[in-house]
Amino acid sequence: MDLFDTRINSYNLDKEETETCCRNSCIKPACFPISVIALFIFMVVFFPLLNEDMLETPRKYEKTGVCKDQCRFEFVESIPTNLTYESRTWPVQNSTYSSWQLLLSKAEKSIDIAALYWNLRDDSGYPTSWQGNATFNGLIAAAKRGVKIRIAQDLPSARQPQIDSAYLEKNGFATVRSVNFSHLLGSGVLHTKFWIIDERHIYVGSANMDWKSLTEVKELGVQLTDCTCVAHDLGKVFNVYWKMGAPKAELPSRWPLQWRTEFNADHPLLISLNNLDNHRLFLSSSPVKFNPKGRENDSEAIVGTIANATEFVHIAVMDYIPATLYMPQQNNYYWGVLDDALRSAAYRGIKVKLLMSQWNHTRPQIFPFLHSLEAINDGLPIINRNGSKIKGRIDVKIFQVPSTAAQAQIPFARVNHNKYMVTDNTAYIGTSNWAGDYFITTAGVGFVLRPPDNQGGSKIITRLGDIFLRDWGSRYARPLDARS
Ligand SMILES: *[C@@H]1O[C@H](CO)[C@@H](O)[C@H](O)[C@H]1NC(C)=O
Ligand SMILES: *[C@@H]1O[C@H](CO)[C@@H](O)[C@H](O)[C@H]1NC(C)=O
Ligand SMILES: *[C@@H]1O[C@H](CO)[C@@H](O)[C@H](O)[C@H]1NC(C)=O
Ligand SMILES: *[C@@H]1O[C@H](CO)[C@@H](O)[C@H](O)[C@H]1NC(C)=O
Ligand SMILES: *[C@@H]1O[C@H](CO)[C@@H](O)[C@H](O)[C@H]1NC(C)=O
Ligand SMILES: *[C@@H]1O[C@H](CO)[C@@H](O)[C@H](O)[C@H]1NC(C)=O
Ligand SMILES: *[C@@H]1O[C@H](CO)[C@@H](O)[C@H](O)[C@H]1NC(C)=O
Ligand SMILES: *[C@@H]1O[C@H](CO)[C@@H](O)[C@H](O)[C@H]1NC(C)=O
Repeated sequence: MDLFDTRINSYNLDKEETETCCRNSCIKPACFPISVIALFIFMVVFFPLLNEDMLETPRKYEKTGVCKDQCRFEFVESIPTNLTYESRTWPVQNSTYSSWQLLLSKAEKSIDIAALYWNLRDDSGYPTSWQGNATFNGLIAAAKRGVKIRIAQDLPSARQPQIDSAYLEKNGFATVRSVNFSHLLGSGVLHTKFWIIDERHIYVGSANMDWKSLTEVKELGVQLTDCTCVAHDLGKVFNVYWKMGAPKAELPSRWPLQWRTEFNADHPLLISLNNLDNHRLFLSSSPVKFNPKGRENDSEAIVGTIANATEFVHIAVMDYIPATLYMPQQNNYYWGVLDDALRSAAYRGIKVKLLMSQWNHTRPQIFPFLHSLEAINDGLPIINRNGSKIKGRIDVKIFQVPSTAAQAQIPFARVNHNKYMVTDNTAYIGTSNWAGDYFITTAGVGFVLRPPDNQGGSKIITRLGDIFLRDWGSRYARPLDARS
C-alpha cells in the first residue's frame, strides 16, 4: 500500500511527468506490480481451497455441536459356538451377523467398508461358515439392487489374498481400493473394521470380514442406526482411506478442509441415543498422519479416558504389550504410553482390570509385562479421598475360548478378539490391539461415549460394564498367576 500511495500521490503532484507515456490509460505503472502481488496472494490463499475435491457447506450438527437424529445404539457381539455363560442374568447382545444382515437390508444407496482382509466364503465347508457366505451374498444382493459398494482394504498379499473383494470388484459389485502402508508410512496395515450404510447407519468393532468373526471368534462392536451425524463423521475417516488407496497415492501435507472434524475429546458431539440417554461422543483415529485437523489421536483418546476415570478402568483386549511388534527388520522398540497411563491410574487409587486373550498365537513375551503390571500392587499408596482411605490395584486375567477337537483345527479362530474399555464414566470401543504399532503406523478407530457432565449414569455405559464383568467372572477367565 505504501508503494501504491506514493505512486498515486506523485501521479497527482507531478502529473506532467506521466502525461507523456500513460495518458488516458487505465493501466497505471503502479498497478502492475501490485496486481502481480495481489494475484499471487489470491492464489496462495484460495488455490488450495479451490483444489479441494469438493466444497461442502457444514452440516447442521457440525455448526451446532448437537445431533438432532433419533439415533438407535446397540452393542453387537459374536459369541463363539460352544461358549456359554453359567448365569442367565447377563446381558445378551444381538449377534454381529444379525447386525450385518440388518445393515445390508437397510442399504439403499451406498455401503462403505473399511477392512483388513476378506475371508467370508469358506471353502473348507466348516458347518458354521454359512453366516459368512450369507453376508457375502447379502453384499452381492445389495449391489444387484443398485447399492454402490466401496471397499477400502489393506494391500493384498500372500497371507491375505483378498479373494472375496477381488471377486466383488471383478463382477462389478464393488469398487475396491487397497492402501499400501509400507509405502505411505514405512510399516503398518489398514486394521480398521467398520461399515457405513447410506451415510445413516454404521458398524464399528473388532469383527473382520471373515466368516470366523461371526461364529468362531469372540467380537464386540457398536451398531448405530438412523444416525447421520456419526455416519457422516465416520465417513470423513473413510474418505482418508479411500484417498490413500487411490493409484500413486501419497500422504498429503494437509487434508481437505471438509474432512476436518469439530468433534474430539475437548469438543464432543452432544447426542441422544435410544431416546433415553444424552451422551457426548467422538471418534478417534490412528495413525496420526491420517488425521485431518480436529480428529482425536486414538492413543490419546485411550490415555484421556483412563485419566478421567474416578473409580475403575476395565479393559478387554486381545493383545497387550508396551512395545511395538511389527516394525520392519525387527526394529521394535519400547512404547509405554498406555502402560504408563494404567500404572499412573492405579497409583491414584483406580481399580484396573485387564482381560487379556490367550490362543495359539499369543506371544510368550507379553506375560512378563502383564506380571509387571500386577507387581506394583504392593507398592501402591493408600490415598485419602473424600474422607475414605482407598488404594488402587491392577488385576490381570487371561480369557481362553474353549475349543472342541474339531474347532481347535480352525486356523486363526477361537479367541477373544474384542478391544474395548469401560470406566465409571466412559465407554471406549476400538478396533486396535494395545501394542505400539496400532497407534503409530496402523489404521484404527475408537468410538468414545460418555454422559454429559453433571448428569447421571448412562445405561449404555453400564451395559458395557456388565458385558465386561460377565466375561471377567466367567469360567473362561483365569487369574494371571494360575498360569503354569
Ligand atoms: C457345541 O455346540 C454344538 C452346536 O450347538 C453342539 O451340537 C455340540 O454338542 C457342542 N459341543 C460341545 C463339546 O459342547
Ligand atoms: C436385536 O435387534 C432387534 C431388531 O433390530 C431389536 O428389535 C432388538 O431390540 C435387538 N435386541 C437386543 C438385545 O439388542
Ligand atoms: C460357502 O461358499 C463357498 C464358496 O462359494 C462354498 O465352497 C461353501 O461350501 C459354502 N459354505 C457353506 C457352509 O455354505
Ligand atoms: C507398496 O509399497 C512398497 C514400498 O514402497 C513397494 O515396495 C510395493 O511394491 C508396494 N506394493 C504395491 C502392490 O504397490
Ligand atoms: C476427560 O474429562 C474432561 C472433563 O470432563 C473432558 O473435557 C475430556 O474430554 C475427557 N476426555 C476424554 C478422553 O473423554
Ligand atoms: C498421538 O499420541 C501418541 C501417543 O500418545 C503421541 O506419541 C503422539 O505424539 C500423538 N500425536 C499427536 C500429533 O498429538
Ligand atoms: C469428592 O466428593 C465430591 C462431592 O461429593 C465430588 O464432587 C468429588 O468428585 C469427590 N472427589 C473424588 C476424588 O472422588
Ligand atoms: C492350537 O494348539 C493346540 C495345542 O497345541 C493344537 O492341538 C491345535 O491344533 C492348534 N490349532 C491350530 C489352529 O493351529
